[in-house]
Amino acid sequence: MNLKNNQNKSDYRALNAVLIIVAIITFSTVIMLQKTADLVEKRSISKFITIEERLKPFGQITMANINIDEKSIIDEEIELDNIVASYSGDEVYSMACSACHNAGIAGSPKIDDAQNWEPRIQQGLDILRKHAIEGYTGKAGYMPPKGGRLDLSDQDIYNAIDYMLVQIEN
Ligand code: HEC
Repeated sequence: MNLKNNQNKSDYRALNAVLIIVAIITFSTVIMLQKTADLVEKRSISKFITIEERLKPFGQITMANINIDEKSIIDEEIELDNIVASYSGDEVYSMACSACHNAGIAGSPKIDDAQNWEPRIQQGLDILRKHAIEGYTGKAGYMPPKGGRLDLSDQDIYNAIDYMLVQIEN
């Protein structure tokens, strides 16, 4: 009786041990499967993203990825850039404007041709600035935006106009 009891006990222990092992194996298999599934999902998402990126037209990636906030920050930076002058008026004039305005190239009003400038100055400074910055096609020809130097700030162009106006008036 005692012997049988002992036998039962060790059977029971063995069964317990087997159950625990089975439980551990099942548990770790589930975890492993889940990890693999996560990995597969991550890989396929990143694959999808790179394919999508590659399909985007050249040059669009940066703008498309910029959200509104970043975009308005960039706009603000451009605005800030535009109120800072990097050069004096005569420096800008000789770098970006003199090529045409010194000799009246391409129909441009010569800097010393006060008569030509008279009606232009009559329009007011705002219009002169607008035309010089945005570009302007009048009866005489084509004035490119910022004289073709888009890297210059608005303030640089204002300074150049001020310089030109002083030259014209003298
Ligand atoms: C490629 C030649 C060219 C360059 C470079 C150039 N301009 Fe002009 N600009 C013109 C022409 C042409 C006109 C006249 C357009 C018309 O009235 O038909 C003009 C006109 C102007 C006017 C008068 C606009 C008006 O409303 O009558 C201003 C101001 C002016 N330019 C400023 C500048 C300044 C400042 C620069 C340098 C940053 C510059 N330009 C560089 C060709 C040029």
